[in-house]
Amino acid sequence: MTNCNGCLKENIDGFCSACESKLFDRSKVSCQLEFNWNDIQDRIMGLPAGFSISGVQPKGFVGRDKNNLLAPNRDIESMYIIKPFLDSRRTLHIDSPANEHLTMTMANQLFNISTAKCGLVKFANGEPAYLTRRFDRDKEGNALGQEDFVSVLNATPGTNDHGLYKYNSFTYEDVGNRLNPADQIRFIRILVFNFLTGNGDAHLKNLSLLESADGDMLLSPSYDLMNTKLHINDSKIAMNLFKEMERTKLNLLTKTYNYKIGDFLELGKRLNVRDRILLQIEKEFRAAKEDMLLFVNKSFLSDAGKIKYKEVVELHHELLFNS
Ligand SMILES: Nc1ncnc2c1ncn2[C@@H]1O[C@H](COP(=O)(O)OP(=O)(O)O)[C@@H](O)[C@H]1O
Ligand SMILES: [Mg+2]
Ligand SMILES: [Zn+2]
Repeated sequence: MTNCNGCLKENIDGFCSACESKLFDRSKVSCQLEFNWNDIQDRIMGLPAGFSISGVQPKGFVGRDKNNLLAPNRDIESMYIIKPFLDSRRTLHIDSPANEHLTMTMANQLFNISTAKCGLVKFANGEPAYLTRRFDRDKEGNALGQEDFVSVLNATPGTNDHGLYKYNSFTYEDVGNRLNPADQIRFIRILVFNFLTGNGDAHLKNLSLLESADGDMLLSPSYDLMNTKLHINDSKIAMNLFKEMERTKLNLLTKTYNYKIGDFLELGKRLNVRDRILLQIEKEFRAAKEDMLLFVNKSFLSDAGKIKYKEVVELHHELLFNS
């Protein structure tokens, strides 16, 4: 017995029944797949253009036939996205699926942040993979409108900026200004969570609006949450909070700006979030460190991955609240 491959609840083999409902509409799906990443790659190559998903990492679609997950097959609606581990130039690269699974699950289980449903699975050859159920489809498989913030804010690539426009053409304040009041509160909590879990990749393409049942465009469930510090040496935060703290300018002075909890609360104030709510958010995350560290221990990370993940949480908690 290990922990649930969905929610990480203790003493479960494979997926617990709550996760079977959420991920697979109650079917008993094994976390051991019968195909390999190569099978997906080969089929993606054989398919017409357009059968690809945006984003930087390789990833593919997977369908389900009753209790069997299948490599992409045009006859079966592909309700899932699967990501293999990162390429071997990255440190702890085999841990990347467990890292994303842990970070997504911690956001949801400890902080009640709405996240894409996900699980950790194994290819036939034993390699780990991250599986997520598509939130841009309803139960019948019909497409729901989704728009990432590159599109919402009309961000355009500069010449030779190598994709950096996703990070530096707008700020989190610009994103927050496009959200309704309830989503603005959710957004502040997501940003604090990302900071504490070392996510340096929450750029404009990793934030989206999703069409609700009533046709409103609301902040989508979170996706692509992970502690990027396990694999690469990047900045503590993907984008600037405010216009007046341009990182580029600070780089000229050879020092980067270190955000504190007060900065996140300031963003909340600018978005007109009530003080009482902001104080609650501060209190909640300040008190959460031990629970976060314990949650890391429940994950499918290697021992080295767990140690590094916890170091990052300890350090970022200290930076945010005590320095
Ligand atoms: N569960 C999901 N449901 C629907 N769309 C998703 C889901 N997860 C990711 N996506 C979409 O796929 C894109 C790529 O996925 P992401 O996890 O961000 O991969 P990458 O690590 O390559 O950036 C995202 O920008 C988002 O638009
Ligand atoms: Mg992404
Ligand atoms: Zn579970």
